[in-house]
Amino acid sequence: MTTGTSPQDFMKLLDATAADTETLLGKLLADATLPGEIARPHRLIEAMRYSSLNGGKRLRPFLVVASADMFGIPRNGALMAGAALECIHCYSLIHDDLPSMDNSDLRRGRPTAHKKFDDATAILAGDALLTLAFDIITRDEVHRDAGVRLALTRALARASGIGGMAGGQMLDLAGEGRFGDREPPDVARLQQMKTGALLKYGCIAGAILGQASKDQYTALDAYGHAFGEAFQIADDLLDVEGDAAALGKPAGQDAALGKTTFVTQLGLDGAKARLRDLLKQADAALAPFGARGDVLRAAARFVAERQN
Ligand code: IPE
Ligand code: IPE
Ligand code: MG
Ligand code: MG
Ligand code: MG
Repeated sequence: MTTGTSPQDFMKLLDATAADTETLLGKLLADATLPGEIARPHRLIEAMRYSSLNGGKRLRPFLVVASADMFGIPRNGALMAGAALECIHCYSLIHDDLPSMDNSDLRRGRPTAHKKFDDATAILAGDALLTLAFDIITRDEVHRDAGVRLALTRALARASGIGGMAGGQMLDLAGEGRFGDREPPDVARLQQMKTGALLKYGCIAGAILGQASKDQYTALDAYGHAFGEAFQIADDLLDVEGDAAALGKPAGQDAALGKTTFVTQLGLDGAKARLRDLLKQADAALAPFGARGDVLRAAARFVAERQN
């Protein structure tokens, strides 16, 4: 597999999107209220900032910006859509780490939100980030066409809710056997919902913003599907083979919690073989875009080879 975007060039692009996303989220999480808001309680905005600023690879905003760029969409609109998606992601991490879920103490190299603040504040910070995401995605700056914004909003809701991330988290917890389920869950389905849905949204958001043809949409959907699965296989492998210092989050947690993962289902070698196969699938899916797909090809390689 060849790519016209080197790993070094890819890192520069990822860093640039991360920096722009950081600036934008900082502005969106200001103390000042917006029309229709009454007040922004200090402890809540602090917890939201703590959980969404100064950290994270910002892969999801990157996917939005890179996929939108293939259609010549102005960067600022794509960054807004990316910031909305990152708010959902950060909320999902806060809740994922709660004592009643994965009970994690470390996230992005720092104490998790409920450790730094308290459980109730962490729950509310997650709620408020989820809601903020929908405020952001509907704003005029995202796209001049209200129909495009409506499509983006509906797709975001579907990727995040019962049939997407939140539903996947339910299956993930059920997969521990904590609700008395006897059968191990279908790990591909679980992943597709818990992590895949938001990552795929990052890719199809570009297609929606770019008012893509049906074929282009299908191509980005297929790429996003392979990317999402590759991402989670890498996450499951890192939980076994990585260490907390490099990961910025605990390692070995999946086994400790009795999670059903790609590693428990396929074994280490099987999971690695599947990862290689998915990289080829991601590459092939981008064929309709030719060299314009090179940045997304490099993103898939990055996600498969990442160390955190
Ligand atoms: C980690 O996501 C959590 C999962 C969805 C498995 P990332 O690896 O994208 O986390 P950050 O945003 O870079 O911290
Ligand atoms: C988290 O999956 C998925 C979401 C937050 C939606 P994990 O539980 O595997 O993520 P990490 O390993 O804690 O980052
Ligand atoms: Mg989890
Ligand atoms: Mg977790
Ligand atoms: Mg994990």
